[in-house]
Amino acid sequence: MIRAKISGIHAWVPPYILNNKELESMVETSDEWIITRTGIRERHILKGEGLGTSDMGAEAVKGLLEKTGTRPEEIDLLICATVTPDMLFPATANIISDKTGIRNAFSYDLNAACSGLIYALVAASRFIETGSCKKVIVVGADKMSSITDYTNRETCILFGDAAGAILLEPTTDGTGIMDSILQTDGSGRVHLHMKAGGSIKPSSHETIDAKEHFVYQEGQPVFKFAVTKMADVAAEIMERNNLTSKEIAYLVPHQANLRIIEATARRMGVSKEQVMINIERYGNTTCATIPLCLWEWEKKLKKADNIILAAFGGGFTWGSIWIKWSI
Ligand code: UT7
Repeated sequence: MIRAKISGIHAWVPPYILNNKELESMVETSDEWIITRTGIRERHILKGEGLGTSDMGAEAVKGLLEKTGTRPEEIDLLICATVTPDMLFPATANIISDKTGIRNAFSYDLNAACSGLIYALVAASRFIETGSCKKVIVVGADKMSSITDYTNRETCILFGDAAGAILLEPTTDGTGIMDSILQTDGSGRVHLHMKAGGSIKPSSHETIDAKEHFVYQEGQPVFKFAVTKMADVAAEIMERNNLTSKEIAYLVPHQANLRIIEATARRMGVSKEQVMINIERYGNTTCATIPLCLWEWEKKLKKADNIILAAFGGGFTWGSIWIKWSI
């Protein structure tokens, strides 16, 4: 049986660090409030005129190709999960491919908000399992600072910029992507969206004056859904594969709020040591949170380790993946 294995992982974060202290000088907030409610201490921000999501994605992909000894022309497909594309069209995946010399591939963007990385991994795995692609790169990249209102304390403390890239290839050794659950509830869009800039409300002087090109989030309802759905879906993938908490090497949760991560871990019955958490240093980087974790924990992972990825995001979207680590 052909499965898709993760054969390489790399990530890139911009050098500028925006810490809670600096945010205290921008909005009415405190380091203590931010840490207690979210677990975030600092986040990285991409500075520089003309730089976008593709620039971070390209850095991650270049590092991945180098690290895995892969030539750009060997790549068959590149999928970029993002909510902050360089522009509405063409796809940021095409721009990343162009910037990294990937010329023999097709590429496209996938928008599932904070669950984007999980959705993209599942899509990529299908192209590999069916034999239509041999080497696929999944990029999770977001320049959240480009859609964050730094006068709104409810959202500006949450987000950071980053990119991660994952190489997938076929394997028959019993490891790889073993199972996945993806779910959507479009009625949740009212709680988390961007009001203008799309076809319902194209950009205008009025939409800019009304600050409608930023993330709009009703924190509490999103929190309520996220805390339940992410825990449910992580527990469900364990149950239906008869995995006990002892058999799990790591939970890799989307990093939106430390309290949501802890609730998911409790529901799965795993200890803190079994959970990848780096929200403290990066904040919520939307599609990049999961690859950032895998990249930082890579050296601790052993072949055949059971890893559960879980995410929840705008849409609403949520999902989980069971991976048997291959490297
Ligand atoms: O990644 C995609 C999915 N997104 C999520 O999963 C995010 C889910 N939501 C959350 O993580 C949390 O709801 C937030 C971190 C966004 C907010 O935390 P909360 O515990 O739900 O706070 P709250 O919105 O209920 O606000 C509590 C109080 C309010 O004041 P009052 O009305 O009690 O006087 C807010 O105005 O805290 C106030 N507040 C702040 N105070 C200091 C809100 N933001 C801040 C702030 N600093 N930055």
